[in-house]
Amino acid sequence: MNAPQRLVRSYVRRERPFKESQKADWGRLWAVYGVEPEGWVQAAAAQPAILDIGFGDAEALLAMAAADPSRRYVGVEMYRTGLLKAMRGAEREGLSNLRVIEADAKDVLAVLPAGSLAGAHVFFPDPWPKTRHHKRRLVNAAFVGALVRVLRPGGIIHMATDWEDYAVEAADLFGAFALLEPLAQDRKGRPETRFERRGWRLGHESFDLRYRRREG
Ligand SMILES: C[S@@+](CC[C@H](N)C(=O)[O-])C[C@H]1O[C@@H](n2cnc3c(N)ncnc32)[C@H](O)[C@@H]1O
Repeated sequence: MNAPQRLVRSYVRRERPFKESQKADWGRLWAVYGVEPEGWVQAAAAQPAILDIGFGDAEALLAMAAADPSRRYVGVEMYRTGLLKAMRGAEREGLSNLRVIEADAKDVLAVLPAGSLAGAHVFFPDPWPKTRHHKRRLVNAAFVGALVRVLRPGGIIHMATDWEDYAVEAADLFGAFALLEPLAQDRKGRPETRFERRGWRLGHESFDLRYRRREG
């Protein structure tokens, strides 16, 4: 097998520095729950996981991993407070099937072997509502192409958004792939998240898009 590619961090995110207690927990918990993508990609194909992309405060990631202990859940986030919440939650709930990666999801998808994921969740990605910012949206043609490549046959992509125009745009992008079979557009086991509740307070509706990767 080729040596794993090193990921170059291509973003800077401003966050408040950690307090001492957060630093201590990070150090202790990262050793248990943190994975370096360069190492994980080697093992990913042997043990296909469900990747939660941009899990934020980890509510859905923790609930889904707890409800489905026989499967491995890996969350990828760039937001350290969220990463720490996921790890603290995993320890509190005694979850042994959850790991986190600190990275840009696009970089992780780029180095994962083809057919190495059992599923991918993209719940409430940043909506970038202004038209001139739509190009910053995570779910674009390149991202969907990368997801299709890394998903194994039978694997499910589940996206949710409370921005109708984003849902329509994403449905067009997913619909362009003959390898994706559309499934019922329902929440199917997806727990509520903070961002979803915020959308409801603004009067938004949630839209779920689900697809199964066909053979081929
Ligand atoms: C609007 S929040 C939604 C969080 C969570 N999924 C939820 O439903 O509450 C979007 C999250 O995606 C993360 N994010 C944005 N772009 C990302 C990327 N390229 N790779 C990994 N995470 C990303 C952000 O840091 C943020 O926490």
